[in-house]
Amino acid sequence: MATQNVTVIGLQWGDEGKGKVVDALAPSCRYVVRYCGGANAGHTVTVDGERFAMHLIPCGILNKGVMNVVANGVAFDPAVAIEEIQALRRRGFAVGPENLLISAAAHLAMPWHKQADRLSEEALGGGRIGTTGRGIGPCYGDKANRSTAIRVGELLDAERVAGRIEHITELKNRAFQALYGAAPLDGRDIAQQAGQWSAELSSMIGDSGSLLRRAIQQGRRILFEGGQGSMLDVDHGTYPFVTSSSVTACGVPVGAGVPPKAVGTVLGVIKCYSSRVGQGPFPTEQNNAIGDLIRQRGNEYGTTTGRPRRCGWFDALAVRYAVELSGVDELALSLLMDGPGRLETFRICVGYRLNNRMVEQYDPSLPLDRVECVYEDLPAWQEPIGEARTFEQLPQAARRYVDRLEQLLDRPVGLISVGLGRRQTILHHTHVPGLDLAVR
Ligand code: IMP
Repeated sequence: MATQNVTVIGLQWGDEGKGKVVDALAPSCRYVVRYCGGANAGHTVTVDGERFAMHLIPCGILNKGVMNVVANGVAFDPAVAIEEIQALRRRGFAVGPENLLISAAAHLAMPWHKQADRLSEEALGGGRIGTTGRGIGPCYGDKANRSTAIRVGELLDAERVAGRIEHITELKNRAFQALYGAAPLDGRDIAQQAGQWSAELSSMIGDSGSLLRRAIQQGRRILFEGGQGSMLDVDHGTYPFVTSSSVTACGVPVGAGVPPKAVGTVLGVIKCYSSRVGQGPFPTEQNNAIGDLIRQRGNEYGTTTGRPRRCGWFDALAVRYAVELSGVDELALSLLMDGPGRLETFRICVGYRLNNRMVEQYDPSLPLDRVECVYEDLPAWQEPIGEARTFEQLPQAARRYVDRLEQLLDRPVGLISVGLGRRQTILHHTHVPGLDLAVR
């Protein structure tokens, strides 16, 4: 069984900087695999000052010689994928069957899923989840429901899938009309679009599970690229304010069709503060000038939706829970590029107070909207850090902060990102082979 595989996941509420870490490791891997989520993700990679925001296509696509796999666990939006493929081609990247395989068993995120997402959120009003509007929940809902789901492989039979689309649209329209009084979708038009999806994508659709299992037997290195963040996991996150798939390392075997042991080394990505988009409890949130400052310094606006992200202090309880859940081996940390600016102290939440009782361990059943955070204060650094290339070149306060995170999380920080560029990376206590390519 291959042990050199690596799984990169987010340990907070998404947007931790996974794209950059995947891009760093990709040259040492033969396969880069998305196993969860869909076009709700927004993985950003910056190459020579050029920014790439990937939603569905694995970040390995920017590296030659990497086979990119969109595995069965993904909610696959063909329109977004085609747009992304075409944009990559316009920017000089080859994308085709030689470097992209889409699992025939992945599920299609269809126009009615986006419609259902939007209508449901509108109807929920103040109780809404705050989704990305990409139809993710309704798509996975149909997957579990089976009869109204469409798998990617069905695009290989354009005529048959057109018939199913018209039939399902009719059923969905009846439900939308009855529940929300919504105008109907045009099934024939969607079926026609599906004809284009078939023409564009058919050569890249296949059985990704058997390809990956063969790769494991041959000892080829695989990188599993997680989406979102552990606290948004459908089972283990802050339910119901979560996404609808299994985004932790626990989701890899099911989402990619590989044995559990194939997960390999688990690299958990964190940033030195917290952010969250959408609704849901967020104990360390700073809905004030501090949060505004963090948002501005960290450029915290959604890659997929452009929404300003809610910002707050680092929550060591929540992250330690995510570390334990996925068996994280090593951490990759994004530090604020230019330092926290005017802030004099940087806070880490080390406990919750609930009903006059101290809670030192995160537990998903905690009423997170009622806990009070207990903080440890550390001095902030004022200096810009974007030019640092070794740990010693970081300001003393930043070094202290990293040391403290290692202690609190009981895991080594392998990589520290000090900016968006590939070279703006410090290798620290890493044991993950290939991470040194980050500084190429
Ligand atoms: P959905 O996945 O679009 O259904 O959104 C459910 C929740 O997950 C919302 O709070 C979204 O803001 C959040 N979410 C989904 N994908 C991402 C992501 O890639 N980064 C950060 N938050 C996300």
